[in-house]
Amino acid sequence: MPSLNNRRKETALRLTPFLKWAGGKRWFVKNYSHLLPETFNRYIEPFLGAGSVFFYLEPKRAIIGDTNPDLIAAYKGIKNDWRYLQQLLRTHQRKHSDLHYYEVRESIPDDPIERAARLIYLNRTCFNGIYRVNLNGEFNVPRGSKNDVLLADDDFEAAARILRRAHIRNADFEELIDLAEEGDLVFADPPYTVRHNINGFVKYNEKLFSWNDQERLAKALARAKARGVKVVATNADHNSVRELYEENGFHLLEVSRFSSISAKSSSRKRFDELVILTNPKGGRKLT
Ligand SMILES: C[S@@+](CC[C@H](N)C(=O)[O-])C[C@H]1O[C@@H](n2cnc3c(N)ncnc32)[C@H](O)[C@@H]1O
Repeated sequence: MPSLNNRRKETALRLTPFLKWAGGKRWFVKNYSHLLPETFNRYIEPFLGAGSVFFYLEPKRAIIGDTNPDLIAAYKGIKNDWRYLQQLLRTHQRKHSDLHYYEVRESIPDDPIERAARLIYLNRTCFNGIYRVNLNGEFNVPRGSKNDVLLADDDFEAAARILRRAHIRNADFEELIDLAEEGDLVFADPPYTVRHNINGFVKYNEKLFSWNDQERLAKALARAKARGVKVVATNADHNSVRELYEENGFHLLEVSRFSSISAKSSSRKRFDELVILTNPKGGRKLT
């Protein structure tokens, strides 16, 4: 039977992100990939998270970044030695227990590949299956009910191949957006915040990403647009956010998705989101 990697090449099967991340955009890739441009020079993604759009597009040249140091260490680890990473995940699988989970959670290794394995192990076995740090940047989620550390559709070799074509930066978004030149594509998916808070989901994010950051982002994207950069950004569908982008001549499109991040069923509801574009037609064929 051909390896998963070969099957992927033969069938143009898309790589699934190996992490689940708060605000992840797997749903966007599934339903709205036609909004992404068909052609562009470099791909720049300043809020990488699990990289749903990055791994979907498999860009030839990219600059990707995030302010989460564990996440960036993980991507660098996979890029440099995915075989060692896989071996470490096998060990985590063998040792997986309450004791092992909490030992791994409390210790942050210096070695980048061990750090990558730690992040993936915790992401896959923690409560609710989503890696999320507290306001001090610490991961303190208890063990969850899932016990699979290695998954059937894991393809770290392919992830490493795609990551080798990218510069990976632990940086603030503005630095990356300011690098974009005419013909480049910026995909920006920040934590969602609105000017007037309406619920707990937003309150948590507000501490991580303030309204001032939203204004800074809109200005950086407007500067990029003026340089001829192609922009696709997502955000909360809220008047305060609309105002930031309407005044700079961006096209706004309303989209919906079902959020299942919250553990409380009462707070599972539809969130209306906004896609902010320089070209409303996108151009990519749906796959
Ligand atoms: C909504 S998530 C991105 C999710 C991603 N699109 C996906 O599909 O998984 C937002 C990310 O922005 C990062 N972030 C927060 N503040 C940032 C900043 N000032 N600059 C760059 N990244 C930041 C967070 O660490 C988080 O990973």
